[in-house]
Amino acid sequence: MASAKRKRVLVLCALPYTNAVPHVGNIVGSHLPADVFARYCRLKGYETLFVGAADENGTPTEVAALELGISPKELTDTLYRVHRDIYAWFGISYDNFTRTSTPIHHKTTQEFFLEIYRKGFVSEGILRLPFCEKDGIFLPDRYVQGTCPVCGYELARGDQCEKCSTLLDPEQLVSPRCKIDGSVPVWRDSEQLFLELGKVQGTLERWIREKKDWKGQVTSLALGWLKEGLKKRSITRDLRWGVPVPLKEFGGKVFYVWFDAPIGYLSATKEWAEATGSPDYWKKFWVEDTEIYNFLGKDNIPFHTIFWPGMLFAHGGLNLPHDVVGLQFCNYEGDKISKSHNWGVFCESVPDVGLDPDIWRYYLINIIPETKDTDFKWEDFKSKVNNELVANVGNFVHRTTTFAWNNFDGAVTLSKRSKDDEELLAKVSALAADVEKLLGEVRLRDALSKVLSVADLGNEFFQRTQPWKLVKEDRDRCEQVIHTCLTVCETVAVLLQPFLPGSSERILSSLGSSSGSFDVVGNERKSIRLSTKPEIPFRKLEDSDVARAKALATKSRPVKDYFS
Ligand code: MF3
Ligand code: ZN
Repeated sequence: MASAKRKRVLVLCALPYTNAVPHVGNIVGSHLPADVFARYCRLKGYETLFVGAADENGTPTEVAALELGISPKELTDTLYRVHRDIYAWFGISYDNFTRTSTPIHHKTTQEFFLEIYRKGFVSEGILRLPFCEKDGIFLPDRYVQGTCPVCGYELARGDQCEKCSTLLDPEQLVSPRCKIDGSVPVWRDSEQLFLELGKVQGTLERWIREKKDWKGQVTSLALGWLKEGLKKRSITRDLRWGVPVPLKEFGGKVFYVWFDAPIGYLSATKEWAEATGSPDYWKKFWVEDTEIYNFLGKDNIPFHTIFWPGMLFAHGGLNLPHDVVGLQFCNYEGDKISKSHNWGVFCESVPDVGLDPDIWRYYLINIIPETKDTDFKWEDFKSKVNNELVANVGNFVHRTTTFAWNNFDGAVTLSKRSKDDEELLAKVSALAADVEKLLGEVRLRDALSKVLSVADLGNEFFQRTQPWKLVKEDRDRCEQVIHTCLTVCETVAVLLQPFLPGSSERILSSLGSSSGSFDVVGNERKSIRLSTKPEIPFRKLEDSDVARAKALATKSRPVKDYFS
């Protein structure tokens, strides 16, 4: 029989703006869940690609540079590296994390545009844009604040109301103000290009209705906008910083940042393919059979369920998202994270604490806002790490390996399993299957908690079989018990791989095993030999550790300090 076709998966994370440094809310709200999922796909043996980029164009960057008195290029060159290094520190396993200022991105955007222009999805028209006379610039949509015409929220942004999620044009805001200096913007007319979203309304609607397994909040938001009826949306701006519009009559204009940014998914894939020496390989992910998973915060849902898919339908011939994993927000100690109020945990300071990245990952995965807003709390940080990771997983692995080391010189061989062993291993493999299933459904928190249940079972078994007594009474049975426990340790470490990559690799290597796939139960080794004297896998957090972490990691470094 011909071997089954290998499944292909493209994992994408919303491109972060490089006008600020990420905080933990940004990590848990997209990069970390995307990473856990990408790692899971690789372990399953799927052909997996995980790409992202810094969203560098358009007004958000221009305004931030203006405020700092530097050029957009200086700003993005530095902040790109800051972002890249932070994601690397947290173990976010991007195959390519690039920038939207690259030549390949400019070229890809212009080609994309020309295709939808040629196909008649672009029209010309007049756009009234807010201009701040005080700052002498056109204001980015999100720098205009005012009252939402739909729900009446008073601090709605010009691109979208954060309360009711309605997509807006700044002009629709009631009593608009410039967010930088509070002045009332004047409106200037300019000739711009528009994407005729109305033309893909029906196609979009059919597509969304087919998505039965999406999170309810994502589909219902999308259907809500479709019900309103899609209007044309401007895709160009009068700016210098960005991707130039490749039409003579529109020389001097650039694309609206929300037009070029999602095309970054495509250009990041192309750049990756070029680097591997097969420039056409991007088509495997965008044209051939591939499941595309987009991870993003809830404020990005409209762009990924309407605007970007609309662009894709207009273009034609490219894969649409298979799943739009729209996440909620993560707060800090009961309040919204805010850099300006110095309220939150700030990524640039996290490494200073000196804790292993996996300790952070463990807690942060626990607060991924999968179904509702979550909260980073130091008390919770300490208790989750100590009571779950240390007391459960760490303890089980440590007591088992130490026992094997002290009583069997670190090597045990499978002889005859008792009914007890078989029952335990059957339960463990059922749980392992659950973990895989949950990961496949992107239910990452539930998946992690099932891994802990495996360690729970192991601890119970160790406690009940009392190897410390057995070793004196029935050494053979004791060896078998320890073999069973080590097999469970190995399963735990294998299952932890997508979550805590560094720690699981250390545990696996101490067990004389190697990682790289999800197969373990039913595939155990007859002889298990520890490679080194066991060390404590996870150290308990003392109050002083938490106090230190809190003191250091809640300090945000002002963006201007990166330029002095
Ligand atoms: N930069 C945007 C934000 O931070 C997200 C862009 S996502 C993409 O809200 F789809 F455009 F890439
Ligand atoms: Zn609103």
